[in-house]
Parts: sequence; structure tokens; C-alpha cells
Amino acid sequence: MLLRGFARAADVALLQALEGVTAQAPLRHLVTPGGHTMSVAMSNCGPLGWVSDRNGYRYSALDPLSGKNWPAMPACFVGLAAQAAAQAGFKNFQPDACLINSYQPGAKLSVHQDKDEKDFSAPIVSVSLGLPAVFLFGSASRGDKPQRYRLTHGDVVGWGGPSRLAFHGVAPLADGVHQLLGRRRINLTFRRAGRASAAT
Ligand code: SIN
Ligand code: FE2
Repeated sequence: MLLRGFARAADVALLQALEGVTAQAPLRHLVTPGGHTMSVAMSNCGPLGWVSDRNGYRYSALDPLSGKNWPAMPACFVGLAAQAAAQAGFKNFQPDACLINSYQPGAKLSVHQDKDEKDFSAPIVSVSLGLPAVFLFGSASRGDKPQRYRLTHGDVVGWGGPSRLAFHGVAPLADGVHQLLGRRRINLTFRRAGRASAAT
């Protein structure tokens, strides 16, 4: 589901809260198991954070940079993610992980599935802020050609149920200047990474 402009009214609050998070857990370029440094800079907030290094991809309660827990998920993040999920028909979405992706012009995310989570019954909720991007969204089989969607500031994408394991990615970011974020796109991806919450 694509909710155009769903996060727009909350943009300033989201970006302010994000500054608090990245002051504690700075954005960094992770290395893939294959040894490539990712063009997207990442951080996390919430009980679990997605990390990658030479040993693989996984969720971790600790930020490997600081050795401490990831910063708490700001209330405005949780509220927005739950509202967007409800709009898409997923009641009681309680994310325990929020991956923060920061794209500068040229940065991209190769097509992949989100499958490091323990339970696929919860949806993925993805919030776009800043420069527009072309989001590639396919099906659960890698061979299917993905559709291309232009995502702009405030757009929220959600996928779950039969599309939970859909392949998706982001085309290289075109240069530009956004009035709040400058030459940057921020994406917040909310997930249930650990065990399903009691309520769902
Ligand atoms: C992701 O797949 O984790 C991020 C997608 C995006 O940046 O829109
Ligand atoms: Fe993803």
C-alpha cells in the first residue's frame, strides 16, 4: 500500500526526533558479508537494530559502534508506523526495530527481501523523507520485473501478508536539494524483527 503524504504533517517532529537518535547512534556505512561498503548510511532505534558485517546480516540489541543499546524509538515514530499499518489493515502493529537509511545523490539499495525477521506476520512500514527516490517493488520471486514508484517527502509504503517477502530496492538517488533535508533522502523502515507481540 502506498500512502501518499501520510507522514508529511509530522515531518518536522520526525526529523527533530531523528537528530536525537543519530546523535547517540551515528549514521554509518556498513560492510556487506561480501566485503562491499554500502552506499546508504544506516543507523537504528528501538529494541533491535539491523546490522551487517563480514559475518552476515542480523538483528542486534546493541549498536556495534558503541556497544550500547540502540536509542529508544521516539514516540512519534511508533505512532506514525502504527497508524500507517492500521490504514493498510494491520491492527496492533508494534515495531521493535526501526532502520534508518540515509541516501546521498548516487546512493542506492540493491533489490532484496526483508527476511532477517523472526516472524513474517507483521508488515513492513517504510517512510520517505527528503529528496525523491525511485522505489522498485516486485513480487516474492526474484525473476519478476519490479514496478517503479516515485516516492517523495512524506510518502509511506507498507507491505505485508502475501507481499511481505516481495523483492524491493531503491534506484540510485538523483541529485537535488530538499528544503528540509538538503541533498539527502531519509528512509525509516519499521519492522517486527523479534518474536510476535502478544497483541498480534
Ligand atoms: C529498505 O528496503 O530497507 C529501504 C527502502 C527505502 O529506502 O525506501
Ligand atoms: Fe528492505
